[in-house]
Amino acid sequence: MTSHQELRVPFSYDVIFTRHVFASGNDTLAGVVEGSPARVVFFLDGGLVEARPTLPAEIRAWCDANVSTVDLAAPVQVVPGGEEVKNDLRILDKLGSLAVEIGLCRHSHVVIVGGGAVLDAVGFAASLIHRGIRQIRVPTTVLAQGDSGVGVKNGVNRFGQKNFFGVFAPPRAVINDAEMLTTLASRDWTSGIAEAFKVALIKDREFLELLSESAVRLAARDLDAMEQVVNRAALLHLDHIAKGGDAFETGSGRPLDFGHWSAHRLETMTDYALSHGEAVAIGIALDLFAAVEMGRVTSEDWVCVLDAMERCGLELWHDALARRDRNGRLEVLAGLPQFREHLGGELTLAMPNGLGRTSDIHELPEELVERAVEALARRAGRSSGEAHISRIA
Ligand SMILES: NC(=O)c1ccc[n+]([C@@H]2O[C@H](COP(=O)([O-])OP(=O)(O)OC[C@H]3O[C@@H](n4cnc5c(N)ncnc54)[C@H](O)[C@@H]3O)[C@@H](O)[C@H]2O)c1
Ligand SMILES: [Zn+2]
Repeated sequence: MTSHQELRVPFSYDVIFTRHVFASGNDTLAGVVEGSPARVVFFLDGGLVEARPTLPAEIRAWCDANVSTVDLAAPVQVVPGGEEVKNDLRILDKLGSLAVEIGLCRHSHVVIVGGGAVLDAVGFAASLIHRGIRQIRVPTTVLAQGDSGVGVKNGVNRFGQKNFFGVFAPPRAVINDAEMLTTLASRDWTSGIAEAFKVALIKDREFLELLSESAVRLAARDLDAMEQVVNRAALLHLDHIAKGGDAFETGSGRPLDFGHWSAHRLETMTDYALSHGEAVAIGIALDLFAAVEMGRVTSEDWVCVLDAMERCGLELWHDALARRDRNGRLEVLAGLPQFREHLGGELTLAMPNGLGRTSDIHELPEELVERAVEALARRAGRSSGEAHISRIA
C-alpha cells in the first residue's frame, strides 16, 4: 500500500524600505510583530554597535515608546560581527540558553540587526529553537539589504565549507533602513555592490546600465544612489525567489549564485580575508570571461562590465586565484565539486547568455578557468610569470 502525501506550506513576508527604523515615531517594526504585546529579543551585530555605540539605547528607547506592541523580553544582545559569528556554533548555545532562561516560545520574535553574517548565523539559531522562532531581519550592509537579508536562507560555516550547516527559513518580515549604510567601512560599502552586478548580469540589462552610470556616485558614497541600487537588487532577488519556481533550491540550478563557485572557494582559501562580496566580484569577472569564451557575451561587454565594477571600487584580482596545488592545478578549481555537492545532482552553473539573461551550463573546462585566471592576472597588471612562481611553490 502507498499513501501519497503532498504538502504545500505557504510563506509570505513583507520587505519594507524605510529610514531611521529606531527613531521615535517610526512604527515600521511595530507594524510587523504579532501579539499583544509581542515578545521580542534583539540581536545586534557587534561591528554595527561599534560604529553606532548609541544603537542599543536607541532600541531600548524605541521599545519603551512602543510598550503596547512590544515586550522587550531580554536585554539587547550583541554578537560578534562578520564571518567570525558564522565560523563556530557558539551562537546556537547563546540564543538557545537565552530562550530557555526567559522562556521564548515559537510565537516570540528575534529581531536580528546586522550584516549578512550575523543574519545568517542568528537566523540559523532561531530556526532551530522549537523548530523555528519568528525572525525579523533588519539588514545593515549593502550586501545584506540587496541580497542575503531579503532571501530565505540561513546558515553557518563548518569543516572549511561555507554554509555547510544551514536551513531554508523565511523571515516574518525584513526592514531595510538605508540610513544604516552610512556607517559602513569603505570595503563593506563597496563589496556589497558585487551582488547587484551579479543579479543585473543574469536578470536585468537596464540595471546593469544604471550601475555603470551610477558607479562614480557609488564610489563617492552617495546614499541616494546606493539606496536606488540596493532596492532594485533586493526586488530582483525577491522576484526570483518568489517566481523562479524553486525557492528552496530542490533542483540543481541556482541562478542567484552566478560567479559563486569560485567566490566561496576564494573565501575559504583566504581564510575569509576576502569578504563574500569581494570574492563574488572576482568570481563574476572569472565566469564572465568564460561566458565570452563560450560565445555568450562579447569581449567588449566583458571589458565594459569589469570597467564599471572597478569604477565602483571593486577589485577584480586576488593572488589566491593563481595559487596551485602540488600537482600544479589551480587551487580554486576545488570550488567546482564543492559547489556541485552543496546543491546536489549534476554540476549546474548559471552563465550569462547576453547581458541580463542567463541559461545553465553543466561543465566548465579546467583550461577555460586557466585562461580566465590569466586574463584577470593580465588585467590586474600581474604577469603570467607570477602565476608560474606560485605554480612551482
Ligand atoms: N543567506 C543568504 O542567502 C546569503 C546570500 C549572500 C551572502 N550571504 C552571506 O552574507 C555574509 C556577508 O555579509 P555582509 O557582506 O553583510 O558582511 P558581514 O556580515 O561580514 O558584515 C561586514 C562588516 O560590517 C559590519 N557592519 C554591519 N553593519 C554595519 C553598519 N551599518 N555599519 C558599520 N559596520 C557594520 C559587520 O560587523 C562586519 O564587520 C557572508 O557570510 C555570506 O555568505 C548569505
Ligand atoms: Zn552571494
